[in-house]
Amino acid sequence: MATSAQQIVTETGDAGALSHVAIIMDGNGRWATKHGKARAQGHRKGADAVREAIEGAVECGVQYLTLYAFSSENWNRPAEEVSDLMGLLKLYLQREIKTLHKQGIRLRIIGRRDRLSADIISMIDKAEEKTAANTRMTLVIALSYGSRDEIVAAMQKLAQAVAKGELSPEDINEARVSSALWTHDIPDPDLIIRTSGEQRLSNFLLWQAAYAEFSFPDILWPDFTKAEFKLAVEDFLGRNRRFGARP
Ligand code: FPP
Repeated sequence: MATSAQQIVTETGDAGALSHVAIIMDGNGRWATKHGKARAQGHRKGADAVREAIEGAVECGVQYLTLYAFSSENWNRPAEEVSDLMGLLKLYLQREIKTLHKQGIRLRIIGRRDRLSADIISMIDKAEEKTAANTRMTLVIALSYGSRDEIVAAMQKLAQAVAKGELSPEDINEARVSSALWTHDIPDPDLIIRTSGEQRLSNFLLWQAAYAEFSFPDILWPDFTKAEFKLAVEDFLGRNRRFGARP
């Protein structure tokens, strides 16, 4: 009989080799079109699916769950949609922080804060501070996030250290690059899920995804459930990861 994600967690207390799951939540717009609704309603339904993913991750014993909520490219969407998404994120932060905190979940936001409004920055700061000591799981929300932006910022940081004479170019290695990224305190993702049938990274965790496994469920994000999450985890647990080494 196949071992389920839930059984593995029950037997070992965690999901073993699976520490970090990252999700590209795609398909809100198509869900709205399919149901004859406005895009904003697709995003709202998408925010409900976030709860499902968090529950699935907690029940599977995953330590880190990263959600791609708003990319650096999403700023180019029509102003009304950007405003809807930002409003939804604010609402989410207002409503869910208490619950996340009660569940022992730590919140971390990665992305370019200088593009966010002052009220969102303040909410994020407070939420991160309130949940900082929680250890059950870390929920990372990628907001105004672009992997190339992140890599450019890391390169600037390292170049400044070289210019000041604090670092020599020969000492720049993979570990130093990793530690200059916004994800410096977060392990690389083991599994990246992208919903809606699209199979792209779209500027998400490009450096960190070097050895990630991928799952592309053919389901629109608002329809995603914790059962779908567990299916992806079970499939991952059956894979043989070699990290470039011989079998
Ligand atoms: C992609 O669907 C989804 C987004 C750009 C936004 C994701 C945001 C949420 C799920 C809601 C808020 C998030 C949190 C963490 C509360 P799309 O609009 O590109 O869909 P389409 O490709 O079908 O048009």
